[in-house]
Amino acid sequence: MKSKLAKFVLAMILLAALGNTTAAGTQVTQLQLYRDQGIDQTDQARGRQLWYSVVDGRGCTSCHGNNPAATGKHAKTGKTIEPMALSVSPARYQDGKKLEKWFLRNCKWTLGRQCSLQEKADLLTWLANQ
Ligand code: HEC
Repeated sequence: MKSKLAKFVLAMILLAALGNTTAAGTQVTQLQLYRDQGIDQTDQARGRQLWYSVVDGRGCTSCHGNNPAATGKHAKTGKTIEPMALSVSPARYQDGKKLEKWFLRNCKWTLGRQCSLQEKADLLTWLANQ
């Protein structure tokens, strides 16, 4: 009996702790997934710096524009790209598959390489706070 009670109490404590982390998390699930994969700190300033960096004439802003809250224009096709700022485009960053697909494609096109987990976490933190 005693051990059953102890287990119950332990389960309650664990549940309470879990509840807390979810409540403190952001609305972007992918950020939580990055944390689960070992990213314990994200840095908005670093994300911003990478976003605005230009390598061989290419940067994230080549297509997404200088203002993340404004509409972008694809550098090659000229197609309109909806704003990246989560405050203006609340539907963004909700689909992990879409996110990873575009991170892969865009980091390669822009930087000539994949972005690391840390870079993606920093970029996403910055974008989600715009
Ligand atoms: C050559 C043009 C181009 C460049 C350069 C570019 N992107 Fe994109 N990006 C796109 C297009 C097109 C989409 C998909 C359309 C959309 O989501 O509106 C997209 C989508 C994304 C998404 C998915 C957003 C979501 O809704 O989930 C992320 C994240 C992203 N880009 C990040 C970046 C980052 C970081 C860089 C710089 C390393 C970058 N992009 C550079 C064209 C570009």
